[in-house]
Amino acid sequence: MRLNQLSTKLGEDHMKNNETLNNWIKDPQLVNDVSGVSVLLNEHSINNYDRAQKNFYEEMNKEEDNNAKDTMIPQRNETLANRIWRAVRLPHAIAGKSSQIDFFDRYINSALRNRNGDTISILEIGTFSGTPATDLILKHVGKVKYLGVDIALTPLIKLNKKFDALDATDFHLVCDTILSDNFKESTFDLIIGRGVLHHFDREQKPVLAQQIYRLLKPGGKAIFVEPLNTNPFLIAARSLTKVARPNLIWEHPFSKNELQEFCDKFDFSNLEFRDGFRLLALPLAPLGKPYQVFSNFFANFDKIISKWKVFRPLFTKSFMVFERS
Ligand SMILES: C[S@@+](CC[C@H](N)C(=O)[O-])C[C@H]1O[C@@H](n2cnc3c(N)ncnc32)[C@H](O)[C@@H]1O
Repeated sequence: MRLNQLSTKLGEDHMKNNETLNNWIKDPQLVNDVSGVSVLLNEHSINNYDRAQKNFYEEMNKEEDNNAKDTMIPQRNETLANRIWRAVRLPHAIAGKSSQIDFFDRYINSALRNRNGDTISILEIGTFSGTPATDLILKHVGKVKYLGVDIALTPLIKLNKKFDALDATDFHLVCDTILSDNFKESTFDLIIGRGVLHHFDREQKPVLAQQIYRLLKPGGKAIFVEPLNTNPFLIAARSLTKVARPNLIWEHPFSKNELQEFCDKFDFSNLEFRDGFRLLALPLAPLGKPYQVFSNFFANFDKIISKWKVFRPLFTKSFMVFERS
């Protein structure tokens, strides 16, 4: 069903909200509505890796409860190596979550403050079935117009049900690749993503950076939490397990040069480095409380030493801020 037909069917309230979507999408006539999610993705125009990735995340979603990326629920298409890696890093991921939430919360609130009470537009890239950032943004229903974009459709359908339940009528979801030219220029005050930029390879990253810059309004910011590929131990671990972990085919954590090239596409950038020595606490993860103590200790230690460039290669994660002036 086309968007204009849908608007007529759903009545005036929804028409008003679809106007929001029309402000972001170049040709709303191309939109197909599937269970409340706007589908623009042309599967023939994406490469084989993206198609494989899309299938992987569609399958993952089928097996998951809401936050199962952070649980032990086994997934049908996971290899044993993937499953072991998930088990090992689970407490580590949970312990690190609060600093991500603080980071996203800081910039969401700052974007709201900068607009002096006006509604702001937020784009989330690689939304999947929702992230901690989505939940933070949902706290501002009425003050935020939100667009979530992902190549996998079924997780978006799941998330859309949550939006409906919360009556978040200005929260929209589009199934498309973020690289598509279906999105209008200078549209968003804030662009957010967690674990998605590294799903673009060396050649695609500069194109992606340009696209993010193009979509930002002047004065807008883009913030991401992404893995780095600079720690020698992690590089070795990844290459040793590559064969057994098929999802690594489309994962390309940032090298030092890629990071620099990405930053150069923006008018201003700031990088915070995380998870260097904190990885030393990982073997204690099954112990619970003692792990928490060590993890916190090393997280604070990391914060201090991240100021020295010489330690940067040890870090495995970056909190990134990019600006268009
Ligand atoms: C590692 S998952 C992260 C999901 C979510 N951001 C989170 O933190 O849980 C990467 C997500 O990016 C999506 N993705 C990959 N390539 C994409 C693209 N070109 N455009 C939009 N989304 C994409 C995948 O489908 C997947 O849902």
